[in-house]
Amino acid sequence: MKGVINGLSSLTLLSAIFAALLSSFLITTRNSNSLKTLLLASFARRRHHHGNSVPKADICCDFAGNILPPETNTTAVLCVDRNGCCNFTTVQSAVNAVADLSQKRTIIWINKGIYLEKVTLAKTKVNVTFQGQGMESTAVVWNDTASSSGGTFFSASVSVFGDNFIAKNISFMNVAPMPKPGDVGAQAVAIRISGDQAALWGCGFFGAQDTLHDDRGRHYFKDCFIQGSIDFIFGDGRSFYEACQLISIASPVPAGKKVINGAVTAQGRSSKDEKTGFAFVNCSIGGTGRIWLGRAWRPFSRVVFSLTAMTDVISPEGWNDFNDPSRDQTVFYGEYKCSGAGANQTLRAPYVLKMNDTQAAPFLNASYVDGDQWLLPFNS
Ligand SMILES: *[C@@H]1O[C@H](CO)[C@@H](O)[C@H](O)[C@H]1NC(C)=O
Ligand SMILES: *[C@@H]1O[C@H](CO)[C@@H](O)[C@H](O)[C@H]1NC(C)=O
Ligand SMILES: *[C@@H]1O[C@H](CO)[C@@H](O)[C@H](O)[C@H]1NC(C)=O
Ligand SMILES: *[C@@H]1O[C@H](CO)[C@@H](O)[C@H](O)[C@H]1NC(C)=O
Ligand SMILES: *[C@@H]1O[C@H](CO)[C@@H](O)[C@H](O)[C@H]1NC(C)=O
Ligand SMILES: *[C@@H]1O[C@H](CO)[C@@H](O)[C@H](O)[C@H]1NC(C)=O
Ligand SMILES: *[C@@H]1O[C@H](CO)[C@@H](O)[C@H](O)[C@H]1NC(C)=O
Ligand SMILES: *[C@@H]1O[C@H](CO)[C@@H](O)[C@H](O)[C@H]1NC(C)=O
Ligand SMILES: *[C@@H]1O[C@H](CO)[C@@H](O)[C@H](O)[C@H]1NC(C)=O
Repeated sequence: MKGVINGLSSLTLLSAIFAALLSSFLITTRNSNSLKTLLLASFARRRHHHGNSVPKADICCDFAGNILPPETNTTAVLCVDRNGCCNFTTVQSAVNAVADLSQKRTIIWINKGIYLEKVTLAKTKVNVTFQGQGMESTAVVWNDTASSSGGTFFSASVSVFGDNFIAKNISFMNVAPMPKPGDVGAQAVAIRISGDQAALWGCGFFGAQDTLHDDRGRHYFKDCFIQGSIDFIFGDGRSFYEACQLISIASPVPAGKKVINGAVTAQGRSSKDEKTGFAFVNCSIGGTGRIWLGRAWRPFSRVVFSLTAMTDVISPEGWNDFNDPSRDQTVFYGEYKCSGAGANQTLRAPYVLKMNDTQAAPFLNASYVDGDQWLLPFNS
């Protein structure tokens, strides 16, 4: 599969990226021009490569090279630049170079650019940081789907199985075509996070159905941009989302039509003994379509939205029990001090908790994911 990236088909893949980006990403990001410019530049550069080769000095002149911190007793730094301006040209090759079960933190410094590759951090790759140059200028991009990869769980552009993963200022994208109604096997994950104690700061997650597989473990997300249509944050993680933008790209629904065509979350807690669930604080929800805040993928699905602004992209009933009324008794769906047209409680599903201060307290800070035990500040 990786072979297709070479030669002519790289142009086809780039065209696919353009198509997906133009139809979704570009119209929804706050500052989309920089990525568009970057894609155009990368496209032109690739074409150029097919003719005569460009001298390395020219390619490296925009190499940022401000790789911090320097190597110390507790930190190792590996550098990735797609044009060959430092030691690794792919993210995966740098990941492979990380010593197994290293107790040192390994910072993989990734220069700006689009990395067309499927990346896996095995269970042995612990304490790894992906440091990008900005979610609008650095991205790992692939396009597997459930059907092309043997199931949704294997479709991720980036899969993280190692514990103590950190990502900063980078985007994870799956640019497979957006599913049309009735399509089967079109789920396309951008990132799967299955390691414990992961922190993601200033990251972008781009896809349609099943964008962010928050699979298992305790995870912290801050200042992230998360785009999708159906179940775009799903899994059985215990996660805290702070100040994130959640953007639906579901098809617009004509006024007066009652159709629902997406959901922000599909949390997969399966028994009352599991401590999993998603807590959102100070986030915003917008975009297109008519979607639910969550649907009960498994019976004990748990999700709480607090202090979150919601447009009318959220349907009045707000939540869905996956057409299984017995789940109305077992789900834990709460809302606390949310605002905007989408937060109107008048027509909410009856099983939704309208939380008071006491009920909401456990879901309002990173102690929800035991952050005091492991979460380091952004600049550490
Ligand atoms: C991914 O893109 C390549 C190149 O355009 C294409 O050949 C392949 O079919 C795509 N895969 C999927 C699952 O859409
Ligand atoms: C790093 O390790 C060396 C060798 O063990 C030691 O001499 C040095 O003091 C250490 N430096 C710091 C900053 O801890
Ligand atoms: C590349 O690897 C060499 C040899 O290990 C090392 O000395 C150098 O610092 C590395 N450069 C970067 C930019 O990481
Ligand atoms: C490395 O990971 C282990 C668990 O996998 C963790 O206990 C340890 O604190 C981590 N070290 C650093 C430097 O992050
Ligand atoms: C990186 O992310 C942090 C945390 O969200 C943010 O404050 C910072 O502006 C970002 N830096 C860049 C270069 O995008
Ligand atoms: C909330 O929704 C109800 C029912 O649609 C509507 O009557 C009411 O005006 C809405 N409240 C606000 C504050 O928009
Ligand atoms: C919050 O709600 C719980 C459950 O309904 C109730 O027991 C408690 O008294 C309420 N607390 C406050 C401060 O209203
Ligand atoms: C986080 O919330 C808990 C309540 O669940 C509270 O006991 C704790 O003091 C809070 N921590 C901070 C730093 O605000
Ligand atoms: C959410 O925003 C409020 C008001 O700005 C602030 O007091 C609170 O600390 C924020 N909570 C988190 C978890 O960021």
